[in-house]
Order: sequence, then C-alpha cells, then structure tokens
Amino acid sequence: MSTLNIFVATMYGGALDVAEQVKPLFEDCGYTVTIHEQPTLEDLIEPPTKLALFCVSTTGSGDYPGNFASLASGIAEKGPSLAHLRYGLIALGDSSYGDTFCGAGRALDALLNEHGAERLGERLEVDAMETFMADDEAVPWVEEWIKEHGLNN
Ligand SMILES: Cc1cc2nc3c(=O)[nH]c(=O)nc-3n(C[C@H](O)[C@H](O)[C@H](O)COP(=O)(O)O)c2cc1C
Repeated sequence: MSTLNIFVATMYGGALDVAEQVKPLFEDCGYTVTIHEQPTLEDLIEPPTKLALFCVSTTGSGDYPGNFASLASGIAEKGPSLAHLRYGLIALGDSSYGDTFCGAGRALDALLNEHGAERLGERLEVDAMETFMADDEAVPWVEEWIKEHGLNN
C-alpha cells in the first residue's frame, strides 16, 4: 500500500482545510494518507517519507506559522538527507504583502531542495487577494498533479 504524508503549516486553518479536502483524492487512488498538523522532523524521516504534500501558509514577514517551526528548524539544523523524498507544494499567501508573498512556501521549497528532495511539478501559490477559498484552486491542481506524475498507481 502506498503512503502519502501531508504536512501542514497554518495559522487560521486554511492550509489544513486544503489538506483535508485533497486527502480523499489520494485515498481514491489507493494511498494511506496521514495529515500532520504539528509536524516534526521524525514525522518526515522516521521512516523516510517517500511522497509528501506540503500545504504551507505564510505569516509575519514571510515566516513559517508556529506549528511548522519544529519541522523547518529540524531540517535546517540537523541537515538530514532527503534524497528519498518526492513532494508537491501548495503555498498560501497574500500578494498584498509584496516581497514576502508566499515567503514560507518558497523558503521551504528551497530548504527541501537543498537537502536533496525532488519537487514534482511547479509549486502552487494561492493568492488570498484573488482566491477566497484556497481549496477551489488546490483541489483541481492536486487532481492534475496526481495525473501528471503518474501517482494514480
Ligand atoms: C499577521 C499575518 C501576516 C501575514 N504575512 C504574510 C506574508 O508575509 N506573506 C504572504 O504571502 N501572506 C501573508 N499573510 C497571509 C496569509 O498567509 C494568508 O491569509 C493565508 O491564506 C492564511 O492561511 P491559513 O488560514 O492557513 O493560516 C499574513 C497573514 C497574517 C494574518
């Protein structure tokens, strides 16, 4: 049975909502899906996650939401190899914040890449200025992501 880990970074629940909405799309393809709401480095590497989806919103000035700090600092400080990991990334942000738009999602993408992980496809960036409910954009994106990368087993 294939497994998928969804890692969530959220303040107000929008990114968690995205995770919950896309979970059945993977289950329909035969995946066992776990949503990590308080993710840690152990959740990512013990055992090594092979396929992950990150749903990451941004707070402060391009910062990770508090619930994601443990995982982000764990990767940055302990420097594990993530060569086994293929992932997709959905970043939630608001373009009215200018230069820090989707800053946490972009920083995470760079961090994962630095540690050898392979992103499948492009990053999705959902702009709260344009899309009221992030799910509306994320669900069709994930449907396409599954198809494009042959994840439908
Ligand atoms: C205090 C605060 C700071 C924010 N800072 C940024 C930012 O720097 N860049 C950005 O793109 N969005 C920023 N946002 C917008 C959120 O990322 C966006 O509203 C997102 O959809 C929230 O997702 P959530 O419901 O998962 O927390 C900020 C929002 C708040 C309330």
